[in-house]
Amino acid sequence: MSKSIKVVVTGAAGQIAYSLIPRLVDGNTFGDKIVDLALVEIPQVVDKLKGLVMELEDSYFPKMGKVTYTDNFEEASKDADWFLLVGSIPRGIVYNGKKIEERSDLLSINGGIFVQQGEAIGKYGKDDAKILVVGNPANTNAFIGKDAANNDNQLWMAMTMLDSNRAKSILAKKTNNNVSNVKNMIIWGNHSPTMYPDSENALIAEKLGSEVINDMNWIESEFIPTVQQRGKAVIDARGASSATSAAKAAIDTVIACENPTDSGDCFSAAIASDGAYDVPEGIICGYPLIALDDGSIEIKRDISLSEFAKSKFKISIDELLSEREAVKHLLK
Ligand code: NAD
Ligand code: LMR
Repeated sequence: MSKSIKVVVTGAAGQIAYSLIPRLVDGNTFGDKIVDLALVEIPQVVDKLKGLVMELEDSYFPKMGKVTYTDNFEEASKDADWFLLVGSIPRGIVYNGKKIEERSDLLSINGGIFVQQGEAIGKYGKDDAKILVVGNPANTNAFIGKDAANNDNQLWMAMTMLDSNRAKSILAKKTNNNVSNVKNMIIWGNHSPTMYPDSENALIAEKLGSEVINDMNWIESEFIPTVQQRGKAVIDARGASSATSAAKAAIDTVIACENPTDSGDCFSAAIASDGAYDVPEGIICGYPLIALDDGSIEIKRDISLSEFAKSKFKISIDELLSEREAVKHLLK
């Protein structure tokens, strides 16, 4: 019999989740495993999930196991292997009479969600659970959740895969390559306008980006700001924050964690710093990661950063430290 895996998804009635949830049970993301889903929403909309469950049942997914929905996060958390924490308010909307412009404006609105969810994950999730925070501001929400969970065996991540996929697409276009030829695409720092997408260490058709792209002006004035501001550009263009690309990036992160990383490659996500690359310990920082054969996830430690890269990365680290300061009332 195939092994089964339990996945909790919050914000399950939202726009990202609508694109994300079917892919969790399509037989690609978790391969042969039977996937049990525990879908979570706030009480006001939880009943809508009945419709989503009907659609899932109607979709013929041989790898779909038991599907439940609830507004009780603790109940959903029991023995879960994976938590995809999407549930939160996006920017671009008017909240309490004020338009939410920056992801950091969401700190006071969304931060509190992650205290209660973190505590439940620490208590009821599997000891080796993996947690991917998608809801913004993702890094600091993950920081709050990890602190509340207080369980160092569990792996807390914040999503930067979308930024990495965006950066791959731009580098591929610039160099006339297919996106699959761009590897080792690292996003350093925060999922925010300070993130540093590292074109120098990207491998483009197996060559270092620093050798392939000899145009610092393009990197500084086009490539970096376009990746940093892509979320806002999508909001401006579609009137809602990115959803299908965000869902795809969440799936890519799960797949990257579930399968050993090819040598020479890495994947992007933010995890708690252990001091690697001189980042203060504890903050949830975008790093190059690798998945090992035993299923563990490690920071890839042999990347060399130019002085230019270090100065950009520092801006993002400083921002993460100031976000940590802003949420200290939520920490244990
Ligand atoms: P959405 O408004 O369509 O859906 C969010 C859902 O979360 C809603 O249905 C809401 O009821 C639910 N929710 C709110 N609080 C909850 C709670 N405590 N428990 C469970 N569910 C809860 O928004 P969306 O477009 O799906 O985006 C969700 C989040 O993802 C936003 O914060 C957005 O900014 C973020 N996002 C992050 C990235 C990234 O790269 N990290 C990319 C895109 C979007
Ligand atoms: C994105 O990068 O698309 C998301 O973080 C949504 C946003 O607010 O930009």
